[in-house]
Amino acid sequence: MKLIDGTRELFRRDGVFDFMIPAKARDHILDTTHGPILYLDSVTVSFDGFKALDGLSLYVDQGELRCIIGPNGAGKTTLMDVITGKTRPDHGEAYFGQQINLLRLDEPEIARLGIGRKFQKPTVFEHHSVFENLELAMHTNKDVWYTLFARPTGEQRDRIDEVMTDIGLIDHSARQAGLLSHGQKQWLEIGMLLMQEPLVLLVDEPVAGMTQQEIEHTAALLESLAGKHSVVVVEHDMAFVRSIARRVTVLHEGRVLAEGPMDDIQNNPEVIEVYLGESIDAGDQSTEPVLRRQSYAVGH
Ligand SMILES: Nc1ncnc2c1ncn2[C@@H]1O[C@H](COP(=O)(O)OP(=O)(O)O)[C@@H](O)[C@H]1O
Ligand SMILES: [Mg+2]
Repeated sequence: MKLIDGTRELFRRDGVFDFMIPAKARDHILDTTHGPILYLDSVTVSFDGFKALDGLSLYVDQGELRCIIGPNGAGKTTLMDVITGKTRPDHGEAYFGQQINLLRLDEPEIARLGIGRKFQKPTVFEHHSVFENLELAMHTNKDVWYTLFARPTGEQRDRIDEVMTDIGLIDHSARQAGLLSHGQKQWLEIGMLLMQEPLVLLVDEPVAGMTQQEIEHTAALLESLAGKHSVVVVEHDMAFVRSIARRVTVLHEGRVLAEGPMDDIQNNPEVIEVYLGESIDAGDQSTEPVLRRQSYAVGH
């Protein structure tokens, strides 16, 4: 695939990689001095009368690493859709910092302001190298000709190297993305988001389908990003959540069922009930996650 195809593909991707407001300018607009970086209050989303989110409130601090768990259908993806402007709530408020009303912005505007989202399925450009993928993600100029012919400056190369180091792919710079393992593709996509210097990173089920070693690497990666970025991770894999979690929010039927440190969450009777209920509902179709949930529910 030619670079131009990759470029076209890049600009088709829901505006997520749309050109961004420079990080420095953004820091001036975003005011988090007296409160959270993400503020959702009493958010309700209805689909034909069914409430996918039902009066949900969530506050995420700057630099925090927050895990969101909950059984299937709890509203986790809908919550991310609200934050990124994909879905509009019927009621409630959603703010980025204290000043920016997310409900008045569309998806590309929210992405440009620094809320990056990683979807479950990796969507890297398979025929381009790791380096080129990061280079494409970096370009803030929508002019295709510029993207095709501009050579990265020394500073830009340094930035790409830095991100390749962070995501553990520095030794695979020239490798075609299509030849990477599933886990490596996921890290590359996180790297592509990092090229945009997001303030908030939303990550949906990052370890689904990963090997144990890849899961551990992902945990370390997300932990290393916290502090510099605020990271919100939706995840079903309890062992993974336990390994990284500081503050955990449990969603159930569109509401916050419990919130707090993992140790408290793990011993919360309501949470245990919800997870045991799900493992019975799930039958034996997905043995491994069910077993994980059961061992989680009994507090191991
Ligand atoms: N576009 C939609 N139309 C109708 N129902 C939806 C739509 N999106 C989500 N839902 C419903 O809302 C509930 C929450 O979904 P979702 O946010 O995807 O849950 P989770 O990500 O926690 O599994 C589910 O019952 C789902 O079927
Ligand atoms: Mg989901």
